[in-house]
Amino acid sequence: MSANDLMPSAGVLARESFIELGARERARRLLDPDGQRELLGPFDAMYSPWLPRQGIVPQADDGVVVLRGRLQGRDAVVLAIEGRFQGGSIGEVCGAKLAGSLELALRDCRAGRPVLPVLLLETGGVRLQEANLGLAAIAEIQSAVVALRAHVPVVAVIAGMVGCFGGMSLVAGLCSDVIITRQARLGMNGPEVIEQEAGLEELDAADRRLVWSLIGGEQRVATGLADALVDDDAAAVRARLLGVFDAPPRPPRSADIALWRGRIEALAGGAAGADPLALRDAWSPGAPAGAADR
Ligand code: COA
Repeated sequence: MSANDLMPSAGVLARESFIELGARERARRLLDPDGQRELLGPFDAMYSPWLPRQGIVPQADDGVVVLRGRLQGRDAVVLAIEGRFQGGSIGEVCGAKLAGSLELALRDCRAGRPVLPVLLLETGGVRLQEANLGLAAIAEIQSAVVALRAHVPVVAVIAGMVGCFGGMSLVAGLCSDVIITRQARLGMNGPEVIEQEAGLEELDAADRRLVWSLIGGEQRVATGLADALVDDDAAAVRARLLGVFDAPPRPPRSADIALWRGRIEALAGGAAGADPLALRDAWSPGAPAGAADR
């Protein structure tokens, strides 16, 4: 074997990792380069008033970056959560930034000026230090997503390495389209929480293979809970995003209540739930409701 055989292919080297970018850079990279404008940026000093009281150093944008701009010339807003600040958790201030900017986009859509909303979800859910305020914000974000998706597709991108958990996983479930990488995870409770609450016999959070086989990006696409698996490549994420907004609208996943209720009721029967491959068979897009019974 020569040294050249050990080199990554030219295609891999040409990629720009999306996961390695911070929230602001991710948003900047997705929008057209010209005409970007940050709403409530760091100089507006939107600090959470609750963190210093608990000995936590706050951050000027409270972990959420809102960037207005254009996607191939069409008005867009990207809401990017910074996973490296407080686990991307949603508190009062950053939650209000998310809900408020979605509501502004809704106002524009209703006035006949469509704004394409993109959520970059990198979040451990409600910020435990701001519990009720975070929960209230998530309710507002959810209702804004449901109202907006009647006008334009609302797209979520879950890249990694935090993933998307808690109340924000419900937000992902409400979006018109979910783009995910193989590295990302999507679930209601994080593996650590499941292990802590239900015990090691329920889930070993240290077993990375098991965790990703249950809630990783590939499994979420295979079971119809996310729509597209993309490489960790900024250009690939943008290309998929443009594809969603160019495609004819389709009904959001969460509108198909009968399908999902049937699947969950079948799971309660205990058949396929714990086996990732059986779940793929039962829940692959197009499989009938209740198929997990088989
Ligand atoms: N609220 C506040 N802080 C949070 C948080 C939340 N919801 N989720 C993560 N964080 C913080 C952690 O406390 C940690 O902070 P530290 O670095 O100061 O210790 C940091 O974010 C990173 O989290 P960590 O758990 O170390 O990262 P991980 O990659 O191992 O796991 C999660 C990430 C999201 C899977 C895990 O944090 C988790 O299970 N969170 C709870 C998810 C959940 O069930 N949320 C329900 C609330 S609605």
